[in-house]
Amino acid sequence: MERLPGFRDFYPEPLPDPNAWSADLRRHVFDAWRDSARRYGFREYDGPPLETLELYTAKSGAEIVGQLYNFTDKGGREVTLRPEMTPTLARMAGAHDRQYRKPLKWFTIPQLFRYERQQKGRLREHFQFNADIIGEKAAAADAELMALLIDSLRALGLTRADFMLRLSSRNAWQEFFNRRCADAAKAYDFYQAIDKLEREAPAVSESRLVALGFSLDEVRAFIAAGQPTEELQRILDDLAMRGLADFVKVDYGVIRGLAYYTGPVFEAFDCQGEFRAIAGGGRYDNLVQLVSNGKVDLPALGFGMGDVVLTELLKARGLSPKNVARLDAFVLIEDESLRPDSLKLLQTLRDAGLAADYPLVAAKSDKQFKRALEANATHTVRLERSAAGSMMARIKQLAARTEEVVSVTEVVRALQ
Ligand code: HAM
Repeated sequence: MERLPGFRDFYPEPLPDPNAWSADLRRHVFDAWRDSARRYGFREYDGPPLETLELYTAKSGAEIVGQLYNFTDKGGREVTLRPEMTPTLARMAGAHDRQYRKPLKWFTIPQLFRYERQQKGRLREHFQFNADIIGEKAAAADAELMALLIDSLRALGLTRADFMLRLSSRNAWQEFFNRRCADAAKAYDFYQAIDKLEREAPAVSESRLVALGFSLDEVRAFIAAGQPTEELQRILDDLAMRGLADFVKVDYGVIRGLAYYTGPVFEAFDCQGEFRAIAGGGRYDNLVQLVSNGKVDLPALGFGMGDVVLTELLKARGLSPKNVARLDAFVLIEDESLRPDSLKLLQTLRDAGLAADYPLVAAKSDKQFKRALEANATHTVRLERSAAGSMMARIKQLAARTEEVVSVTEVVRALQ
């Protein structure tokens, strides 16, 4: 049986083939995301993977709605696998906003589903680190999020030489649009045309823009001028105070594809331009109000960083750590009469918080040793009886190839 196209299996290392997805690398990425969120004071939340179709139809825009994994459930409800997290967050924040002091600083790592055309960096499921701040209008919140985005990439070993944030403004584009077009209903199509400028042939972009009353040249001139608005300047100043100004440049070539963005928006890219966006986000000050049917009005902003492009980038830059999973000890049982004592020792190691494994059934010693190596154990431990008849443990440090023999009660200390 084959798996569905655009979906992934994650294997433990060593991988069955170099193109397989690594569960160890995924854990490494998730750990870096979680730890960065913790350092920034973000709290973890989650929601259901299946949502009502309605949550996305009016709010996210036609493009993503066209990519939904939606169906009618057995109770006749119109439902869909979540393609993104932001509407769920807006729903959750709207439902219980009084219980929490504002601003909320929340993060999550959901698996998301989009029926997209498979291409480099785009699959039909992905994991996405989402960090959002709800209930804060000040530019400090935008800067705080961008700093978190920068630091979560740096936590994985990427540097300014590897990635860059491009900061733009929906407000600036909206003013540009309003100066030339009075039909607000066309704004979304216009944003979509700008969003696709770098990925589509110029002739296609030109015809999209002309249909909306714009020319490609005037759009390009606006991007080239690239002057930060006051709003963007405040964000840049804040990031400069943190010593992070270098990581960000104003670039109106970014606008974001989703419909709900309202203010500053940004995307992270690799500096060599090899990959699609690593992450994207921005302000969506009206979404909580929209999703709560007008009951709760809270400004909001956030970003999403997918695991697919990020993993490709880490591999390309040689930053996927080798041997992430590690055993502190593999307990060798070469003499089956020592199995009861070995099990007792094993339990002591595990109780002490050490990662320890052993042969479940009798096996040849070279097989046991190979298993210890494959499990990336730092030590092997083997019980043996001394000439005087007392039980001793022979601890071998595999990398250094050193050995010591200690009494059974000393094993935990010796391994620690
Ligand atoms: P998005 O730009 O649609 O934004 O997705 C954010 C990131 O998720 C992308 O930059 C990319 O890394 C990854 N991604 C998106 N689609 C796919 C796919 N089909 N395959 C692999 N990776 C993908 C959002 O989803 C917003 N809800 C983010 C946000 C949070 N805005 C405010 N808060």
